Amino acid sequence: MQLGLEGRTIVVTGGASNIGRATSLTLAKEGANVVIADLDVDQANRVAKESTGPGPIAVCETDVTSLESVQALAAFTAREFGTTFGLANVVGWEDVHKFVDTTPEFWQKVTAINWTGVLNTTYAFLPQMIEAGTGVLLHVASDAGRIGEYKEAVYGGCKAAVINFSKTIAREVGPLGIRSNVVCPGMTMPTSEAEYGALSMHATTTKIGSAISPETLERAKRLYPLRKFGTGQDLANSIAFLLSHEAAGHITGQTLSVSGGYTMI
Ligand SMILES: NC(=O)c1ccc[n+]([C@@H]2O[C@H](COP(=O)([O-])OP(=O)(O)OC[C@H]3O[C@@H](n4cnc5c(N)ncnc54)[C@H](O)[C@@H]3O)[C@@H](O)[C@H]2O)c1
Repeated sequence: MQLGLEGRTIVVTGGASNIGRATSLTLAKEGANVVIADLDVDQANRVAKESTGPGPIAVCETDVTSLESVQALAAFTAREFGTTFGLANVVGWEDVHKFVDTTPEFWQKVTAINWTGVLNTTYAFLPQMIEAGTGVLLHVASDAGRIGEYKEAVYGGCKAAVINFSKTIAREVGPLGIRSNVVCPGMTMPTSEAEYGALSMHATTTKIGSAISPETLERAKRLYPLRKFGTGQDLANSIAFLLSHEAAGHITGQTLSVSGGYTMI
């Protein structure tokens, strides 16, 4: 199957770490012009250096919670590669707590990164897709946004909002040649320290990674019919597929769980 992404310009927010990293490398492998938009420029540059192409990877320091920063990203991308064809919103962040144990400051952080960030980037990039009469939006949400997950109230609420937002946008811009879809990971672990950055959830929270005992992780795998967690590459494959008009040109407004069967909706 040809994805036809050669020479297409695709922005990957959070493209420096784990799922975003695998997505950036996969899209470059498919020949796309990739812009990694991430707060962590050092890790983003490491990913760009690691890439063997053939598509180029440019790095733009971006804070998706700031519309001004995202507008600067749009201008940078236009200067580097011209019109943006695809926007992959991969940024996300959470820490797990019962809702009653959280604070308004925590809700604000989770909401700014997982929800406002998606509004900002879509707002900044959609007009040029409309003008071009083609384009594709891809948001990474979470199974937590589909089923309501223990200790993930605010994060899950934001991800549910992203899923609903994507459907509305799909209806609004479908007639203009633009698609919008969502991918929902389940547990998706980096396989080495090189695969995630200093600002990654895997480095900054107690949820994932070395903070969880191997026994607990093995128990958690039993909740997955395929008895394994996902990898960044598992997610990158589905993201590249949905970004491709050639492969997924008749798919819009959909939500795809890539989570080993953890949820079946
Ligand atoms: N990994 C999982 O188990 C899992 C499960 C379900 C959903 N998800 C979702 O998948 C996506 C990717 O997860 P991951 O594990 O690759 O994340 P990660 O934490 O490893 O990487 C996130 C990246 O976003 C960047 N970032 C953080 N805040 C930013 C901001 N304000 N502006 C720009 N960049 C910022 C970080 O520097 C990092 O490079 C997220 O949306 C997450 O919610 C992940």
